[in-house]
Amino acid sequence: MKARVLAVIVLVGSLVMSVSGLLTDEACPQDVQVKQDFSLADYAGRWYEMKRYEQFYEKDLDCVVAEYQPTGKNAISVKNGAFSLANNTKVVADGTAVLSYPDEEQLQGKLSVAFFGAKPDRSNYWVLDTDYTNYAVVFSCEPFFKDPSKNVLGFWIFSRTPTYPTDEAAVKRIDELVKKYGDSSKFEVPNQSDERCPRSY
Ligand SMILES: *[C@@H]1O[C@H](CO)[C@@H](O)[C@H](O)[C@H]1NC(C)=O
Ligand SMILES: *[C@@H]1O[C@H](CO)[C@@H](O)[C@H](O)[C@H]1NC(C)=O
Repeated sequence: MKARVLAVIVLVGSLVMSVSGLLTDEACPQDVQVKQDFSLADYAGRWYEMKRYEQFYEKDLDCVVAEYQPTGKNAISVKNGAFSLANNTKVVADGTAVLSYPDEEQLQGKLSVAFFGAKPDRSNYWVLDTDYTNYAVVFSCEPFFKDPSKNVLGFWIFSRTPTYPTDEAAVKRIDELVKKYGDSSKFEVPNQSDERCPRSY
């Protein structure tokens, strides 16, 4: 099964970021506490998606990984990879992310991410918290490009490994953040098992 040949499809538009969102009529929350003293260098590397909000027009993406590589002091490249259950093909999205507010004395975990050559000029990827080695919890809220009267909400729990973090402090912190900023009933849990996932990305 591992040897299955996978087609690589480059999607037009912003793949995993925007398709993992949830449409809402509500305004984006303003009083969100994000990670302080954020280190982009420590945040770089591979993250496995453990949970995400149910998508509004694309479903069934398993094995979602985000790979971040430093490209400058305040910038990283973004490669999102996933495997679609709908048609058994791999989907990838390439993008860039920059610190949204690089000049602040105390760096906040606020990033601006864009895909396929678009300029990352909207602060749309907020790291609520991370210990860099076990988990990261990311929140996003921005106007929906097709209908700016609506917002697209995103919420992700990432792990450094293909399995859910087991570190007790990490699990406790994730639960707190979900309670405060998320809605666990909206979570989608992608399959990250070795049998399911062709780890060729
Ligand atoms: C496979 O499904 C994904 C969504 O799950 C879609 O984005 C992609 O275009 C599909 N690929 C093909 C070849 O149909
Ligand atoms: C993940 O996929 C594997 C292989 O297809 C399957 O055996 C397993 O039951 C799936 N796990 C879950 C939680 O759905």
